[in-house]
Amino acid sequence: MPRPRLFVTRKLPPDVEARLDRDYEATLNPVDGLPTRETILEGADGKDALLVTVTDRIDAGLIGALPDSVKIIATFSVGYDHIDLVAAKARGVTVANTPDVLTDATAEIAMLLMLGAARQATSAIATLRSGQWKNWAPTGMLGMELTGKRLGILGLGRIGRATAKRARAFGMEVHYHNRRRLVAEMEEGATYHPDVESLFRISDVLSLHCASTPETRRIVNRDTIRLLPEKAIVVNTARGDIVDDEALIEALASGRLAAAGLDVFANEPNLHPAYLGLPNAFLLPHLGSATRETRNAMGFRALDNLDDFFAGRPPRDALNT
Ligand code: DGY
Repeated sequence: MPRPRLFVTRKLPPDVEARLDRDYEATLNPVDGLPTRETILEGADGKDALLVTVTDRIDAGLIGALPDSVKIIATFSVGYDHIDLVAAKARGVTVANTPDVLTDATAEIAMLLMLGAARQATSAIATLRSGQWKNWAPTGMLGMELTGKRLGILGLGRIGRATAKRARAFGMEVHYHNRRRLVAEMEEGATYHPDVESLFRISDVLSLHCASTPETRRIVNRDTIRLLPEKAIVVNTARGDIVDDEALIEALASGRLAAAGLDVFANEPNLHPAYLGLPNAFLLPHLGSATRETRNAMGFRALDNLDDFFAGRPPRDALNT
């Protein structure tokens, strides 16, 4: 039986590409050039499937222009806000993502951001590296301790819960808001807030873990930032567009917020330039899932979904069936 034909938009870890080569007629991206819309459409020509990533915008226009041969789009990501699921369904194209496997890696980055923001790591590192660290000082470079602070988690899903678990080990008190309250077993003692406003009011540290949807886009804005306690910290490992950049930058610059830890940005990699000038912004370049273990696991999970699909089984992570 001929092997399914697959267009892969980005260079993937070697073990993942080895499995791709073994089981598929795969067109790889050896130089890892960022594909344009045209490259994706050209690559899709005569293919049965696409393997895409968060850097590919698979909108309704692109889906409408795909050849009829493409029946499944597997994304190497848990997030799927870059894919128009409705348009895909209307064309009869299955979409599958890679949940679970990046939960721990992303929760680790959330803790790094919390610590980096709380302890003013950006300015401390800059002081040291520029040779301006003159001596240890009782009042120098003081940050905020996480111990005993209230962590507000917006979106207590898989990654939110993994972050909560780690935060508890740091002595933080966990609060959350979801549209629906979780069962006690999943809350693990976290305090539920039925609305976003109530969560923001008590969040010494606010950590964002919700998907980017029309409801959550710019949910961190001028009005909601005002609700946060004085000198609160905002951490984002979810999606950049959940935050109104101008509002957050203003609150960081004025000192209304003590700090922010950000791994994701609107319009990546072209983040709002004002973040770069803020000593209280601890910034990472979308590293949430960037460990060898996790990137392999993401690739294998995407391939499991493709294997299922081409074996006539519903992919475990199908999003739009
Ligand atoms: C995802 O999988 O959605 C992440 O943002 C990639 O790290």
